[in-house]
Amino acid sequence: MKLLHLDSSITGDGSVSRQLTATIVDRLRAAHPGLEISYRDLAADPIAHLTLGLMPASSPDSRALLDQFLASDVVVIGAPMYNFTLPSQLKAWLDRVLIAGETFSYGPEGPQGLAGGKRVIIALSRGGLYSAGSPAAAFEHTETSLRAVFGFIGITPEFVVAEGVMMGPEGRASAIDTASAEIDRLAA
Ligand SMILES: Cc1cc2nc3c(=O)[nH]c(=O)nc-3n(C[C@H](O)[C@H](O)[C@H](O)COP(=O)(O)O)c2cc1C
Repeated sequence: MKLLHLDSSITGDGSVSRQLTATIVDRLRAAHPGLEISYRDLAADPIAHLTLGLMPASSPDSRALLDQFLASDVVVIGAPMYNFTLPSQLKAWLDRVLIAGETFSYGPEGPQGLAGGKRVIIALSRGGLYSAGSPAAAFEHTETSLRAVFGFIGITPEFVVAEGVMMGPEGRASAIDTASAEIDRLAA
């Protein structure tokens, strides 16, 4: 069984999403001895953005990134909210795995996801509160974007959410406690 672990936070050791993905991966490692884990720190080791001269088909590392994703049974992703959406480093990785004919196709019925059968677990961390019903819910474009993107390729992602991380030490502690309880539930 193969697991791909991706972090994208720029805040290093203080990162909440990194703490959560590490816990999730530890739990999965304990539950599945022999788990083969690949790790990429997208902030320390970024993937180039697509440009005029860099399309996925012409990039030598694109095939390797896509194959690594396709070969994974489980993908654990740390996704902090930066300016109401996902870090551009994580978007750069998504740009290499959302490929027509590989992870989705268009046919007479419309788009079809081709990457189903994987478990994708996403640890979200956000400074404020954006859950359904909160005043800022309409500004939430991290979870909604990732749910749509993975849904498009045939995967229903599972989310672990730490929110209110910037709302003082108690808010941060409470956010981490809530997310940790969610990890317990996912691991059960
Ligand atoms: C560049 C940057 C942009 C941020 N933008 C937002 C934002 O739009 N909304 C928000 O609630 N928090 C925002 N935050 C706070 C982070 O979401 C929060 O600190 C979260 O814990 C980040 O995840 P990390 O701890 O894994 O880095 C921002 C933080 C940084 C560094």
